[in-house]
Amino acid sequence: MIQRNQLDLRKFVVPEFICGYGALQLAGRYARNFGMKQVLLVTDPGIRAAGWADAVGESLTEAGVPFTIFDAISPNPRSGQVMAGAEVYHSEECNGIVAVGGGSPMDCAKGIGIVSSNMQDILTFEGVDRVPVPAPPLICIPTTAGSSADVSQFAIITDEMRRRKIALVSKALVPDISLLDPRPLTTMPLELTVDTGMDALCHAIEAYVSNASSPMTDLHALEAIRLIHSALPAVIEDPENLELRFSTLLASLHAGLAFSNASLGATHAMAHGLGGVYDLPHGRCNALLLEHVIAANYEAAPDRYDRIGAIFDREPGEQTTPAGEIAAFRRSIGITATLTELGIREDAIPTLARRAYADPCLVTNPRRLTCEDIERIYEHAL
Ligand SMILES: [Fe+2]
Repeated sequence: MIQRNQLDLRKFVVPEFICGYGALQLAGRYARNFGMKQVLLVTDPGIRAAGWADAVGESLTEAGVPFTIFDAISPNPRSGQVMAGAEVYHSEECNGIVAVGGGSPMDCAKGIGIVSSNMQDILTFEGVDRVPVPAPPLICIPTTAGSSADVSQFAIITDEMRRRKIALVSKALVPDISLLDPRPLTTMPLELTVDTGMDALCHAIEAYVSNASSPMTDLHALEAIRLIHSALPAVIEDPENLELRFSTLLASLHAGLAFSNASLGATHAMAHGLGGVYDLPHGRCNALLLEHVIAANYEAAPDRYDRIGAIFDREPGEQTTPAGEIAAFRRSIGITATLTELGIREDAIPTLARRAYADPCLVTNPRRLTCEDIERIYEHAL
């Protein structure tokens, strides 16, 4: 079991954020305040079609800030897309970035920012604290309630040559402001709502049991878990309900504040492995791995996992891993497939495990896992 000490030195990095109805309309005012003369508006085709990129564009126009749209971004954003965005940033002589979308456009926008200020290939920033020059000002407007890229020090980019996801962790990746508005969430399809909600749950649980957790991150992690447990099933039943959508957005915000500062664990390390090779939705990968990682980790942090179990209505006094409760929860919101059904083959496991073993998220997992341990967890999830 790991020993935690409240007196251990811990840093807590948080960007400015504004949450509430209409927050996205503040994009123009903040762009002007940051001195942006020409904005790169980073988004994706789905968000454009839903009208949210136009809504942000109108706000920029009203504030007198011209912009260029860059939307050539896929789910699981790729290194080539970041470099292409950086080219547009330079050719249009931009001096600031506004990102509207889910984790993919926001991570891509973060990548474009550091590539532009450092004039280096995005892949050179892999790892922790590898960004020498700060990025230009970045305003984020999340349209999902899961990635928390709008408040975190993380960006995940797929190295398309090697088909692997790389994690970039740096204070230079924290946006300058996040505008959290519940309205864009209402156009999210059900599957995306569920997958991103489970991603947020994973962030909160992994941050809570992380061996870099602190009293400050615990506070946010537990509140996120509580909110997701109550609001996510409810919002599936009532997807237009702005108050419920806002609760999931708050949950994601709390989870982001927790994991950005406490980091993550084996679920994310293993999900990055899967996402890189198979290009699967990140939240779905996490959802299918989480209960198996909990079962493997439980003995390393039983008190913490018991507290999570209590939120998930586990019988009081029961002292077993909450993996069963977590599995029941994800099934109750419609995630019932196995990794095999998503196309994962057993013979891929050694490669996946090696990649997960090298992922920076594994460093803060409460139990030190070997490559063989990780292979066993993948096998259980098949
Ligand atoms: Fe995640």
